[in-house]
Amino acid sequence: MAENEITSKQEQKINVLVVDDEKSILKLAQRLVRQEGYDCLVASNGIEAIAVMEETVIDVVITDIAMPEMGGIELTKQIKENYSADVIMMTGYFKDLSYENAVTQGAKDFIQKPFSTKEFQIRLNRVIKERETNQELKQSLKRMNDIVNGVINSLSSTVDARDPYTAGHQKRVAQLAIAIARSMGLEKTIVSSIRMAGILHDLGKIAIPAEILSKPSTLSDIEFSLIKTHPQVGFDILKNINFPTPVAMIVHQHHERMDGSGYPLGLSGNDILPEAKILTVADVVEAMSSHRPYRPGLGMDKALEEIKKNRDRFYAPDVVDACLKTAAKNFTFHG
Ligand SMILES: [Fe+2]
Ligand SMILES: [Fe+2]
Repeated sequence: MAENEITSKQEQKINVLVVDDEKSILKLAQRLVRQEGYDCLVASNGIEAIAVMEETVIDVVITDIAMPEMGGIELTKQIKENYSADVIMMTGYFKDLSYENAVTQGAKDFIQKPFSTKEFQIRLNRVIKERETNQELKQSLKRMNDIVNGVINSLSSTVDARDPYTAGHQKRVAQLAIAIARSMGLEKTIVSSIRMAGILHDLGKIAIPAEILSKPSTLSDIEFSLIKTHPQVGFDILKNINFPTPVAMIVHQHHERMDGSGYPLGLSGNDILPEAKILTVADVVEAMSSHRPYRPGLGMDKALEEIKKNRDRFYAPDVVDACLKTAAKNFTFHG
């Protein structure tokens, strides 16, 4: 092995834990692991292994299967549930524990005893390489997500900059919409879609003159018809972004009403996306409870009265119920 390779492995401080009740195997495995430039810890059964993992972050566990106290299968199960280490199973006793079986149990690889020293090291290095590749992928994905969130927040703040009276409205609508979606038990991807649509839902207002947005008196019909273009404008801005979920359509539909009296499409009932129904309720509740240029904030109770009164007529009943439940748990807007 080249010297610089050893240095780079040492810099990464990869910790390998070998678990076996045979002292001679532990000694041999420890030597082979160290030869490859990794730190090596040992344990003689599953219980001891867990104790080591509570103290030290372990990258890879190489475990025997048949051991007293806690065997390798149970240990693998516990590692999968509570730790981030990858597991290599190692045995000579379980004839029926094939590579396929080991992988099904959650192991990344399988070493048959007696093993050749070369094979042991090749399999260990392969698992570590795969682990590093996965970590790099996770990091790039996180970077991408951070960029996407940054762009979304910047887009959202363009509306806040033009309409300081309602600054933070989209963020607060997103907070309530997320809380409602969670209380409805919706899955993570849908909640994240609702969050993005919430933060961006009034983006189309950037096409409306600022003096109309912040007008302190009642709007004329023409001014109101201008305001009503914002879901369409928002949709047009967002429709070409390849979001993994229908964010643009949710934005498009956030002023639709269950009875078809909303805008811009006049959709009704189940033609409206469930995510849009949630956003609608969150939007109304936030808008009513907060201060507006033409009136002071009416408070949360008044807002909840409105959605209760028009449950089913304008607002989806299951969403209204979830919103009331969320409010009862002392939901508060922040920011
Ligand atoms: Fe809106
Ligand atoms: Fe809104």
